[in-house]
Amino acid sequence: MKTLMLKADEVQTAADIIKNGGLVAMPTETVYGLAADALNGKAVEKIFRAKGRPMDNPLIVHISDISQIYNLVAVFPEKAKKLAEKFWPGALTIILPKSDIIPDEVSAGLDTVAVRFPSNPIAHRLIELSSPLAAPSANLSGSPSPTNAKHVADDMNGRIDAIIDGGECDVGVESTVITLATEPPRLLRPGGITLEQLRDTIGEVVVDNAVLNPLKNGQKASSPGMKYKHYSPKADVILIKGSDDSFVEYVNQHKADGVAALCYDEDLGRLDVPTVSVGRGDDYETQAHRLFTALRTADENGYRTVYAHCPKTEGVGLAVYNRIIRAAGFEVIDLE
Ligand code: TXA
Ligand code: MG
Repeated sequence: MKTLMLKADEVQTAADIIKNGGLVAMPTETVYGLAADALNGKAVEKIFRAKGRPMDNPLIVHISDISQIYNLVAVFPEKAKKLAEKFWPGALTIILPKSDIIPDEVSAGLDTVAVRFPSNPIAHRLIELSSPLAAPSANLSGSPSPTNAKHVADDMNGRIDAIIDGGECDVGVESTVITLATEPPRLLRPGGITLEQLRDTIGEVVVDNAVLNPLKNGQKASSPGMKYKHYSPKADVILIKGSDDSFVEYVNQHKADGVAALCYDEDLGRLDVPTVSVGRGDDYETQAHRLFTALRTADENGYRTVYAHCPKTEGVGLAVYNRIIRAAGFEVIDLE
């Protein structure tokens, strides 16, 4: 299959592909998504094949107007309305009991559906011109999510119909996922909308155990995506917990061929190994924005072991931590 490279003003071509049951990678404010008509089960099935995604991992349905949600869900409770009014369009995905219109391919056999209203104008236009869109991140299953059109092409060239080039994504990590299908509401994946913001809006929100910890053997995932290895570059990523000084000291002591550091700007002059910085230690937005590119850069540079400076878990830092600990396959060295 030849993959068309479309410009930002060629959204109508992309919409025609979607209406014919094809697959289009689109920019969103979080990461690039691989979109198909959410109400066409056959089209949605192609997403799983193109990504190599396990069929039991459900997809997010993207809308371009809050009113579209009424067709997709069985109930739209008060707390969900509050969140939608405050954070949509934006980096928040809300899970609710699904309506009968949702194909099994989208919900992967669950009785719930995840819905998001993205703010990116290209995504918005594409949905308006076609249909609500089922879209996971546009990477091969398991590798870091794409934050520009080149990342998408590296993974998906020849596997999908088209890619719309909308430049770099703003946020850089995937949306926050909260389920309101349970009471109290539960944070399943941290992202650009923070836990603090969610609690300010609707009160109690529980953090699912899988956000920070590996699933125990036999434990059921609230969000099927959490049980798979994720965001992994080819290099072996190891998270280092401890003070800034102990991080620098540990990495320098382990200097060797193929060893590098995923670090903060403050560490740059102090490390004796090759470095990829994600920004200042207290600038969580920049860290989120740069993280997935940094992981891809580590592979392009051929690093085999990458020691990562452990992020703080407040604000958007929680999302950065959640992605790095998965990239590391939960391999942590605790120097505290
Ligand atoms: O920012 C984003 O959310 C991006 C852009 C493209 O919108 N999309 C994205 O989709 O990250 P994906 O498929 O890579 O991640 C969706 C996550 C998965 O972990 C999946 O298991 C979970 O959301 N999920 C989807 N529907 C669910 C449901 N009904 N119940 C529980 N978890 C669900
Ligand atoms: Mg993904």
